[in-house]
Amino acid sequence: MTAPFKLSPLPYAEDALAPTISAKTISFHYGKHHAAYVKTLGEIVAGTKFADMKLEEIVRATATSEDAKEKKIFNNAGQVWNHDFYWRSLTPKQSKPSGKLKAAIEEFGGEDKVIEGLAKAGAEQFGSGWAWLISKNGKLAIEKTPNAVNPMSKGVNALLTVDVWEHAYYLDYQNARPKYLSGAQEPAELGLRGREFGPGIPSGPRRCVILLRVQNGGEPSAPAVFLGDRDSS
Ligand SMILES: [Fe+2]
Repeated sequence: MTAPFKLSPLPYAEDALAPTISAKTISFHYGKHHAAYVKTLGEIVAGTKFADMKLEEIVRATATSEDAKEKKIFNNAGQVWNHDFYWRSLTPKQSKPSGKLKAAIEEFGGEDKVIEGLAKAGAEQFGSGWAWLISKNGKLAIEKTPNAVNPMSKGVNALLTVDVWEHAYYLDYQNARPKYLSGAQEPAELGLRGREFGPGIPSGPRRCVILLRVQNGGEPSAPAVFLGDRDSS
């Protein structure tokens, strides 16, 4: 019998991203929402052809299914994958891009363009979903997806994501998703390698930094090279 899916460890303490994302938000988001997707996925794949598949295989195999049960499997598997990716897109530590990623950012128009693009995509996503920095043919691009959809299921390499489901920000920002994305009117900062998402953010030590992942030329969204200092786990 295949072991049930496990909730991946959070790569930092629940209060590590405060005040941008509070410990209370992380506690609910990781401990309740993410955990529920993991538990439900294990229950609904039991006894099916998906039971022995790896998570990414399940996501890809069900991404375009019209079958009601497979849609439910996709929604939960996608959300497990997306949240694993989200926690690893955020870090309290700063890092700087280098090498191919640095060159790709410059070609895209610079770090500010990346940051603005992510914030815009996240703000414009209607309803629940995700904003993504992706890599296509070595070039950066930004897209948004609804619900549990992700670029990986379409064979596109994801480098970074921001969760824009309400559960990601409601306790801290209520319905003000742009504040979560920009921190523009809050004494909080959501940055990308030390760069803020929006204008008007108070200066001071940055508490929450999004960490870029770089395409490694392998499987789409295969374990990516993490830049800068980060736990190797
Ligand atoms: Fe979420």
